[in-house]
Amino acid sequence: MSNYDAVFSQSINEPEKFWGEAAKKIDWYKECDKVLDSSNPPYYRWFKGGKMNTCYNAVDRHADGDRADQTAIIYDSPVTDTITKISYKELKEKVAAFAGGLKSLGVNKGDTVVIYMPMIPEAAVAMLGCARIGAIHSVVFGGFAPHELAVRIDHAQPKALVTASGAIEGAKTLAYKPMVDKALEQSVHEVEKVVLFQRDFVQADMTEGRDIDWNELVATAEPADCVELEATDPLYILYTSGTTGMPKGVLRDNGGHAVALAWTMKAVYDIDPGDVWWSASDVGWVVGHSYIVYGPLIAGCTSILFEGKPIGTPDAGAFWRVISEHQVKSLFTAPTAFRAIKKEDPNGEFLKKYDIGNFECLYLAGERLDPDTYHWATDMLKVPVIDHWWQTETAWAIAANCRGIEEFPIKPGSPTKAVPGYDIRILDNECFEVEPGKEGNIVVKLPLPPGTLVTLWKNDERFIKSYMATFPGYYETSDGGFVDKDGYVYVMGRMDDVINIAGHRLSTGAMEEIIANHPDVAECAVIGTEDKLKGQLPVGFFVLKAGVDKDPKEIEKELVKMVREEIGPIACFREATAVARLPKTRSGKILRGTMRSIASGKEYNMPSTIDDPTILDEITDTLNQMGYPKK
Ligand code: COA
Ligand code: AMP
Repeated sequence: MSNYDAVFSQSINEPEKFWGEAAKKIDWYKECDKVLDSSNPPYYRWFKGGKMNTCYNAVDRHADGDRADQTAIIYDSPVTDTITKISYKELKEKVAAFAGGLKSLGVNKGDTVVIYMPMIPEAAVAMLGCARIGAIHSVVFGGFAPHELAVRIDHAQPKALVTASGAIEGAKTLAYKPMVDKALEQSVHEVEKVVLFQRDFVQADMTEGRDIDWNELVATAEPADCVELEATDPLYILYTSGTTGMPKGVLRDNGGHAVALAWTMKAVYDIDPGDVWWSASDVGWVVGHSYIVYGPLIAGCTSILFEGKPIGTPDAGAFWRVISEHQVKSLFTAPTAFRAIKKEDPNGEFLKKYDIGNFECLYLAGERLDPDTYHWATDMLKVPVIDHWWQTETAWAIAANCRGIEEFPIKPGSPTKAVPGYDIRILDNECFEVEPGKEGNIVVKLPLPPGTLVTLWKNDERFIKSYMATFPGYYETSDGGFVDKDGYVYVMGRMDDVINIAGHRLSTGAMEEIIANHPDVAECAVIGTEDKLKGQLPVGFFVLKAGVDKDPKEIEKELVKMVREEIGPIACFREATAVARLPKTRSGKILRGTMRSIASGKEYNMPSTIDDPTILDEITDTLNQMGYPKK
C-alpha cells in the first residue's frame, strides 16, 4: 500500500484515531472527551469536551516558547512602500492589547465583530484579538459595496465593527470610512462601536461617541489574556455567495479548525515550522483566513501579508521580488494572478532579475487551473505547480497533490486526489454512484472532516437545504466533475448559479435581484461567460416592460452602475443587453445553462422542455453581435 493510500484509508475508516493523532499538534487546556460525536447527523461535532484557544495556538505558544523572536508576519506593501517584520513576541503584545481594547468596549465571548479592512497587519491582529477573547469575527472583503456590508451587518448583528480609513487598490486610493458610514446608515442593526485604524494617506472623519481610534484604544486598554474555549465554540462567520442575494454565513468552530489547519500545513503543503510561507490572497476570503492568518501561524511559520497586486505594483515582477526578498519557500495564489503576469510578461523577463533559488512550490486554487497557465507557470518557475480544489465551506483542500504525504505525477486539469478526510464520490441525480470517468455531482460522504462548516450562522434550515438534503448522507459541493480510474479528481465547474471571477466567488442570482429592481425591467438573466484573464465574467440580459420607450443603451448603463453600487466593483459587471425574450422551459425556468453554452461556443442539446426553440436563435444572434463566443 502506498503512503497516501495508508493515510487516506485510516482517515476514512478510523477517523477518530486519525484526527485524535492530528490533534496532538495543538495545545489543549483540556483534551476532548470524544474525538467525533456522531449522535446528531448531519451535525457532526469534532473534539467535543476539549478546551483550547485558537489565538493561544497561533500566537502565545510561539511567543512564550522558542519562537519569540522569529518573524510571525512580514507586511510587504509596495503600494505604501513599506516592509515591516513582526515577531511572535510583538504579535502577542499587539493582539493582547487589541483584545483588551475590544473588552473595554464591552465585546465579550460569543459577541460578533465585523472586520472590514485592507491588507494590513491590523486586519490579522483584529481577527486574532477576537479569537483571543472568544468573540466571533466576520471579515467582509473590502471590494464589497456598502449595501453588501450592510446585509452582513444585519445578519451578523455585530457589537463592534473594525475598519481602516482606506486602502490603495493598485493605483487608486480608496476611502473606506464613507463606505462604512453608508453601510451603517443602511443597516437596521445598530453597531455600538466602530474601531478605526487611520492610515497616513487618507484621514477619516470620526463620529463622536461611536468611533474610536485604533491607536488610542490599544494605548489605554489593559492587555487581555486568552480565554478557555470549548473546541466546539464558534471562531468565525464568513459570508460567501449562494444562489440568491442573501449570502451564506459559513460558521467555523475552534478546535476542529485548528487541528485541521495544523495538519494541512505539513500534509498538503509540506511546510514546517520556521518556513516562510506566502498566500497572496486577501483576509476577506477563506484562503486569507486559513492560509494568511490561522494555518501558518498555528504551525509557527513566517507568513507574508502582501498589500499589492501581481501586476502594476509596480510591475509584473512583484511576485518574484517578494519571493526573492523574503526567501519564500512556497506561494499559494489563484490562477488568475498568473494569467495576469503571463499577459504582461509572457517571456518572463522580470523573473530573470530575481534569484528565487529557495522557492520550492507553487500552489494554485480558487478556480479551475487551465492547462495553459499550468504549463506556463511550470516552464517559468521550474518547480512543481500544484492545483488544489476547495471551498469557503471546507476551509481547506478537498482534493490536492499532498506533497507532505506522497507526491503524485501531475495530470494537468486535475487537482489530483481526495485529501485524507474527504470521502469523495460522484453521484448521478438519482443518488447512484457513477463509474470512473463519468461526470456527475461531486459529493463527500459524511462525516466531513474537522474544520469544515458546522452550520450556517442562524440558519440551520438553509444549511440542510443547501448541502445535506439533495444527497442524503453526503455533503453536496455544488461542483460537477468526475474521478478517473486512477483516483484523480476533475472539477468541471459549478452546477448552480455561482460564478468565479478572478478567483472570487459571486452569485449571478444576486446580480439578477438587483437588475430586476430597475423600474423598466420586466425580467432578466445573468450568466457567467468565459474570460481569458479572470476565468469568468458576468453578462446580463434583460427584457423591457411593455410600453417602455427609453433607449435600452441608457438602461444598460444604469444596470451596470446599479450592480457596481450594490455589490461592488469586484462583481466586474460591465455588460448588459436588452433582448426581446428569454429562452425558457415550458414551466417558465430560464435556460441559463443553454445560454452559457452558446456564449462559450459549446455544443448543446436542445432542451426537450423548451417552450420556443426560436428564441435560442435570437439569443445566439445577440451574443454573436456582442462578440461571443470570444476568440
Ligand atoms: N477593495 C476595494 N476594491 C477592490 C478590492 C479591494 N480590496 N479588490 C478589488 N477591488 C476592485 C478593483 O479595484 C477593481 O475596480 P475597478 O472596476 O474600479 O477597476 C475591481 O474591484 C475588480 O478587481 P479585480 O478583479 O481584482 O481586477 P483588477 O483588474 O484590479 O486585477 C487581477 C486583476 C487578476 C490582477 C486580480 O484580480 C488579482 O490579483 N487576482 C488574484 C485573485 C486572488 O487573489 N483571489 C483570492 C482568492 S484565492
Ligand atoms: P470559494 O468558496 O470562493 O473558495 O469558491 C469555491 C469554488 O471555486 C468551488 O466550488 C469551485 O467551483 C471553485 N474552485 C476552487 N478551487 C478550484 C480548483 N482548484 N479547480 C476548479 N474549481 C475550483
